[in-house]
Amino acid sequence: MAHYFEEPSRTFNEYLLIPGYSDKNCTPDNVSLKTPVVKFKKGEKPAITMNIPLVSAIMQSVSDDKMAVALAKEGGISFIFGSQSIESQTAMVRKVKSHKAGFVTSDSNLRPDQTLADVLALKERSGHSTIAITDDGTAEGKIQGIVTSRDYRISRMDPSTKISAFMTPFSALIYAEEGCTLSEANDMLWEHKLNALPIIDKNQRLTHFVFRKDYDSHKDNPNELLDSHKRYVVGAGVNTRDYEERIPALVEAGADVLCIDSSEGFSEWQRDTIAFVREKYGDTVKIGAGNVVDGEGFRYLAEAGADFIKIGIGGGSICITREQKGIGRGQATATIDVAAARNQYFEETGIYIPICSDGGIVYDYHMTLALAMGSDFIMLGRYFSRFDESPTNKLMVNGTYVKEYWGEGSNRARNWQRYDLGGDSKLKFEEGVDSYVPYAGSLKDNVTLSLNKVKSTMCNCGALSIPELQKTAKITLVSATSIVEGGAHDVILKNTDNNSVR
Ligand code: IMP
Repeated sequence: MAHYFEEPSRTFNEYLLIPGYSDKNCTPDNVSLKTPVVKFKKGEKPAITMNIPLVSAIMQSVSDDKMAVALAKEGGISFIFGSQSIESQTAMVRKVKSHKAGFVTSDSNLRPDQTLADVLALKERSGHSTIAITDDGTAEGKIQGIVTSRDYRISRMDPSTKISAFMTPFSALIYAEEGCTLSEANDMLWEHKLNALPIIDKNQRLTHFVFRKDYDSHKDNPNELLDSHKRYVVGAGVNTRDYEERIPALVEAGADVLCIDSSEGFSEWQRDTIAFVREKYGDTVKIGAGNVVDGEGFRYLAEAGADFIKIGIGGGSICITREQKGIGRGQATATIDVAAARNQYFEETGIYIPICSDGGIVYDYHMTLALAMGSDFIMLGRYFSRFDESPTNKLMVNGTYVKEYWGEGSNRARNWQRYDLGGDSKLKFEEGVDSYVPYAGSLKDNVTLSLNKVKSTMCNCGALSIPELQKTAKITLVSATSIVEGGAHDVILKNTDNNSVR
């Protein structure tokens, strides 16, 4: 006979947190949102942690290199979508890894034999007044000098004057050598009262500039997530089909962590994919797996060697899997069940496997609930798709700015390997929709606001860290009528603009 679960499965919307005692130390400033990303042994430190518990979904309409840099600046990780060619996915990973915080590739470059007229034309086009003068006029050429607006007087000089006649020549330049840290470069900028510091390799080739004007923006990102070489941390999605080619290419490109992207992960294909990684790289390459929605699925992937395990089937905002196939489970119930299995596994083995609740976050407080229910971090698609940094178009529809957001199982993404069950089967039906989401502005502003709410709720619960919240949270189910009570009710709203996260 089939197995029947006794309780219905439930969504985050059906729960609330009950405050616990908060002492005077319990203020949002004292809350740490640091969280492990990959498994670790009791008493040891995880190889990868994040400074905030958010990752962006493995989706075409969410996670490209631009999103990855923006999210790493705030302390989280993007998983660059895998439903593209290996070449274009690795190119995105490379872009993130070469995007050095504060180290800017020069976008205004000329040769010494060009003229003042060329300088003025370039300045007009780029809007930048610092121009690198290199032997071949490229951003990586051998540096010959620099031109800034201080080097010429338009009214007194002939536009055909050669740059070599008025540039600040290399012999008079203050520069730093490749390999210097950002703080060393900033110290030089201040010490020598410079606006721009060229960074040069041992062959006198220009590698980057560090600009004084960028100094403040780094101070603004105290949570940025960097690897041991001070590069942004980035993840990448893989599938259970072409992993033998894709994974080595992504590792080579510098991806810090991989994740098997599948709508249903309790499968032999996932085990084989993880086994490939372990055979080829041992524990040096980190790979998450999923998605599962119960303890049995968790245990299978834990034993297969997954570094973290993702939870969620059918709860995504663009997802129609439940309608199409009748599989899935309410996201809150799935998280609670998998968290219990993870804790049990930890007790038995001393190995802690982080879990990630994926999809279905609508309100900011759902994030806090997901964490309180045992999630170590949360994957979001719709949430991030609304920001400036998502890869999709911003459009005006019916007088409102929106961004496009489509599922990986939609005809638009055609990511069939995410849904495919292996063999020769090629699924032909959609499991996701193509949609609009309200445009919400910058990632930084939104993430700051959402996490301030999370921290504030944690304080109400008397928890200063995620593990503390997981241990001490008191969670209650709410009745359908009390859900109505939770919003503004029995009043006439003056402003119908809802500025919540939805
Ligand atoms: P959201 O944050 O509620 O928008 O959910 C995002 C999550 O939905 C992703 O991380 C995926 O796990 C899942 N997902 C992405 N595309 C599809 C799809 O086409 N069908 C079903 N689920 C999807």
